[in-house]
Amino acid sequence: MTDLRDRVVLVTGGSAGIGRAVVHRLAAAGARVVACARGGDRLDEALAGVPGATGVTSDVSSAPDRVALVERVVSEHGRLDGLVLNAAIGYAGLVEDTPQDAVETMVSTNLTGVIDLSRLALPHLLTAAADRGRADLLVVTSSAALAQVPPLTIYSATKAGQHGFVKGLRREVTSRGLRVHSITPGPVATEWLVRGRGAAPASDADAAGRRSPGIRPERVAEQVARSLTSYWSRTVAVPRYMGLARLGEVPPVDRLMDMTLSRQHQRIRRLTDRAVADRTA
Ligand SMILES: NC(=O)c1ccc[n+]([C@@H]2O[C@H](COP(=O)([O-])OP(=O)(O)OC[C@H]3O[C@@H](n4cnc5c(N)ncnc54)[C@H](OP(=O)(O)O)[C@@H]3O)[C@@H](O)[C@H]2O)c1
Repeated sequence: MTDLRDRVVLVTGGSAGIGRAVVHRLAAAGARVVACARGGDRLDEALAGVPGATGVTSDVSSAPDRVALVERVVSEHGRLDGLVLNAAIGYAGLVEDTPQDAVETMVSTNLTGVIDLSRLALPHLLTAAADRGRADLLVVTSSAALAQVPPLTIYSATKAGQHGFVKGLRREVTSRGLRVHSITPGPVATEWLVRGRGAAPASDADAAGRRSPGIRPERVAEQVARSLTSYWSRTVAVPRYMGLARLGEVPPVDRLMDMTLSRQHQRIRRLTDRAVADRTA
């Protein structure tokens, strides 16, 4: 199956940013998309007028919500052909400045949520792969998974965990027809910075001027759509040159980054505080 028509795809975090662009892209190609987010009003706004897309209010960091979400998709659509694990939270701040609840939220959303939703969806995805010849699981990770740059140390650790999970899962299921992909974007113009601080925009109008700088989310969505129709499992950086982030792991580049960035910790703290203040004031 190399097109998206009639494929049943669950997208987490579909009310804003990259997830929203993914929902629009997949629905335009004829997929039956179920999108989830915690905020129902924003989800309704995101899905208004998108044929083939439905919304479910669900928190992927909650175990009962994860179970209910997968059950609901399968009971409403009869199967699950694709899972796009996009929802994540990033609290920008040095480790010593990060509150405990932000640590818990990042780990439970970005890591536990991704691994456990995959676990719950796997029986359905493997059935779809066997019955229909294809199924896909895709995680939107980050270039931060490849190179850890303050003030995103904790977020980077969760993204590195996602990266490792994708690689291991691929080795469990590839021969059974389930493709496992990851997309590693660099900076994308979305609401992640303010959402991570608990100041998510209440509406599209409210989001204006509060997004972080970066490429358009539609560019990431395009790579998601390409992965879901590709013959092979893919790991793709968007833009492509962000794959160079891997060099951050290579000596002596890693040593150089240790030395330079650790000397800049006060400056990083100031710049982060200003970026947050500019968008939450
Ligand atoms: N923006 C970037 O620069 C960038 C770069 C690399 C990778 N990424 C990755 O791209 C993905 C999407 O990020 P984004 O930048 O588009 O973020 P965003 O603009 O903040 O959107 C996040 C979406 O996820 C939902 N969400 C957050 N927590 C959730 C939860 N616990 N349960 C269900 N839904 C939840 C949000 O809605 P609610 O708040 O209403 O739940 C929203 O729909 C993430 O995995 C992120 O790590 C982003």
